[in-house]
Amino acid sequence: MTEKSRLFRDALGHFATGVAIVTARGVDGAALGLTINSFASVSLDPPLVLWSLDRASDRFATLMKAGHFCVNILGDEHRALSQRLSRKGESALDAGEVREGVERLPILKTAIAHFECRVEHRHDGGDHVIFVGRVVDFGHKAHGNPLVYYRGRYRALNEADH
Ligand SMILES: Cc1cc2nc3c(=O)[nH]c(=O)nc-3n(C[C@H](O)[C@H](O)[C@H](O)COP(=O)(O)O)c2cc1C
Repeated sequence: MTEKSRLFRDALGHFATGVAIVTARGVDGAALGLTINSFASVSLDPPLVLWSLDRASDRFATLMKAGHFCVNILGDEHRALSQRLSRKGESALDAGEVREGVERLPILKTAIAHFECRVEHRHDGGDHVIFVGRVVDFGHKAHGNPLVYYRGRYRALNEADH
């Protein structure tokens, strides 16, 4: 990484985000997950969301083939899970961690909110591919403190409004 791209990444890190796990099923039926913070809402009507996938990811081929994905929003208690699913070669989800949604989509049981999506578009995004999903089902828990990512570190939101 060049000095300029490191500075660019550091500047981007000043935008505080939530953290999510994108889950999907491979062609072999196995559930996989990937930690992301590129999630954004796009449209209310129709209901669309987006996230972007690194072309260099080992999970790239599998996720490009998936017709559906689920964005699972993480809570403050999910730091270890977020770290695990951001490690190379660590994409597997235990059967006990997930339940099934539309099209057998794996949904994290403990997510504070989730969005089950059908892939609507895939756009070129430089070294990433931008996935736009049409939300076919969603839900959220009544309570939950979000996991926050800011300047390369996990943080807790101190002023949560319950
Ligand atoms: C907080 C956080 C946010 C991340 N956001 C993204 C993202 O939006 N898109 C992406 O492709 N990878 C993202 N990553 C990287 C992947 O989780 C993961 O590190 C990488 O895909 C692992 O390599 P592999 O996919 O080649 O196994 C993020 C990692 C962390 C820790």
